[in-house]
Amino acid sequence: MNPRIHYTKPSITELEVAYATDAAANGWGDRCYEYITRFEEAFKAHLGVKYAIATSSCTGALHMGLAALGIGPGDEVIMADTNWIATAAPIVHLGAKPVFVDILPDSWCLDPEWVDQAITPRTKAIIAVHIYGNLCDMNRLLAIGEKHGIPVIEDAAEAIGSVYHGKRAGSMGRFGAFSFHGTKTITTGEGGMFVTNDADLYEHVLTLSNHGRARGQTKQFWPDRVGFKYKMSNIQAAIGCAQIERIEEIVSRKREILRYYRERLEILPGVSMNPEPVNTVNGAWMPTVVFDKKTAVTRENLQTAFADENIDARVFFYPLSSLPMFEDQPQNWLAWDIPRRAINLPSYHEMKESDQQRVVEIILNLS
Ligand SMILES: Cc1ncc(COP(=O)(O)O)c(C=O)c1O
Repeated sequence: MNPRIHYTKPSITELEVAYATDAAANGWGDRCYEYITRFEEAFKAHLGVKYAIATSSCTGALHMGLAALGIGPGDEVIMADTNWIATAAPIVHLGAKPVFVDILPDSWCLDPEWVDQAITPRTKAIIAVHIYGNLCDMNRLLAIGEKHGIPVIEDAAEAIGSVYHGKRAGSMGRFGAFSFHGTKTITTGEGGMFVTNDADLYEHVLTLSNHGRARGQTKQFWPDRVGFKYKMSNIQAAIGCAQIERIEEIVSRKREILRYYRERLEILPGVSMNPEPVNTVNGAWMPTVVFDKKTAVTRENLQTAFADENIDARVFFYPLSSLPMFEDQPQNWLAWDIPRRAINLPSYHEMKESDQQRVVEIILNLS
């Protein structure tokens, strides 16, 4: 049997190990926040935003940001039907309703046309998720948000390294949220980041993130409101500091892997892969292939072929509206149709060219 090819694995060097070791040995007492502050500063500088709060996950960052915007029972939040549950869960936890709209055929991100049509008096936010590193049409989404007075939020969990017209993914919306889960481009094991340029929103989320204790509050153990506990630890942040120092190298390797697949697979008739429109950079978190409807290639035969070769195949996200806890929205026909003929490809930093060749061969044999 050929050795297993995993779909993702982080790139961990001696730098990450050294910082984590230092945090474990010395990062206590007066120094217990050092790496957290340093990671937040480095992340802000990388992204070009004013404020950042390191969190235990992207889900937690979204939950606090949505809570700070006052989203609650009876409200609606528009998002793409194609997504991981993590973006919808905080909306549901707050008692609001996720409204799922269809995606664009090329970026697989939410279609601004459908977003505009889905707006009601109850709409309180639009969440733009840059799926697999592909960028949402931010100019149109921000214009729609502005027209209706509705904040646009960026879920950039999958889009570190992606750049839209000179601005980094996650830096354009009312707030942005990132994930450093072990499968993501940069990792802290588990972890996330809340970012914004809005000073009031930052203060609000900072208070929420500290169990409702405002930073000006001098009375010890005195929360002014009920908040959350979604903090990142100093040890996790130490790994994050090393990863952000290496961000250029890590993202460029991701892009190199995507380029290799693209050059060999995009030539197949009707195949589409992660797009990179003019004036954008795709951070290439997850190389993805969508096959033409006319071909016989399906999710199921792709999964079988990959499993036979001991390679991880990751299915394209099922439409969230098809999950048992939501109402079917089959009129979102691209979100319902594309996953049936698509697959995510392995793309970890240390992957060898021969590994990529094995992946490519499976697809060429099926097509
Ligand atoms: C688009 C999207 N949003 C949010 C998340 C949640 O990230 P985390 O696991 O850090 O909460 C993920 C991670 O899988 C994701 O892909």
